[in-house]
Amino acid sequence: MQTILKKPELYNLLYQDVKEDISLYKTLLKSYDTIVEYGAGTGRITIPLAMEGKKIKAIDNEINMLENLHEQILKLNLEKQVQIINANMITYTQKELVDSVIMPLTVFNYIMDEKEQDECLFNVHKYLKDDGVLILELLTKKTFLELESDKSNDKYKYIKKINVDDGYYEYWRRTRLDKETNYIKQKRLFKHFNKQEENDNEEMFIWQNRFISYETIKDKLKKNGFTIEEAYGNCQLESFNNDSEDLFIKAKKQ
Ligand SMILES: C[S@@+](CC[C@H](N)C(=O)[O-])C[C@H]1O[C@@H](n2cnc3c(N)ncnc32)[C@H](O)[C@@H]1O
Repeated sequence: MQTILKKPELYNLLYQDVKEDISLYKTLLKSYDTIVEYGAGTGRITIPLAMEGKKIKAIDNEINMLENLHEQILKLNLEKQVQIINANMITYTQKELVDSVIMPLTVFNYIMDEKEQDECLFNVHKYLKDDGVLILELLTKKTFLELESDKSNDKYKYIKKINVDDGYYEYWRRTRLDKETNYIKQKRLFKHFNKQEENDNEEMFIWQNRFISYETIKDKLKKNGFTIEEAYGNCQLESFNNDSEDLFIKAKKQ
């Protein structure tokens, strides 16, 4: 079974309306010039930051996503701002020290193994400047509980329609949760309909994440040499609480 990351054009269609967090990163990174971004993908965050003059290393282990990013970088003449690096964020490290490391759109939740989560943070700690900042977005307990209580989880659930030049897609998904491990696994189904409304193609992708509670990430960050400076519950930078839809953590070296 493939993942949607092999199809960057579908990924972009799915996330084309997600824009709110861009301003959050612009604000929080105002006084930082060099950025390492994990899970940069097709550059939804990378490109707007590069256009503001930031120097970004865009790390991703999915070559198809990076090829899509590369095409955009060339079109926008951002080669001097963005360096694309095909690497695994768990083991990635570098000699040069940087001002900031960001992990947008729950990319840290993609690390399913607890030791690998530690390894990732340990490596970041090594090359982040002493007064540098680590910003990570994580899945919230609210989202996890909502998925857990959804009784229709056993079946495919219709999520949304996405219009494309030759018709439209229906996006469906089925979610499975494991409360012991906090694993969340989804099957994401895209049904393509042509202009005559005929369902002429279907593609299925696997997506998996691991939920990490706020208490756990706090301990994990501490263990790896970071302290949480702020936790935000939305893109307007209001404080995080248990009812928050989002969680953005701004951490500093201890
Ligand atoms: C949800 S996408 C986010 C893409 C982009 N940052 C955005 O906001 O639209 C997660 C990205 O993380 C990448 N990723 C997942 N695991 C990774 C790993 N171990 N190392 C590097 N990249 C990884 C995926 O290939 C994917 O491009």
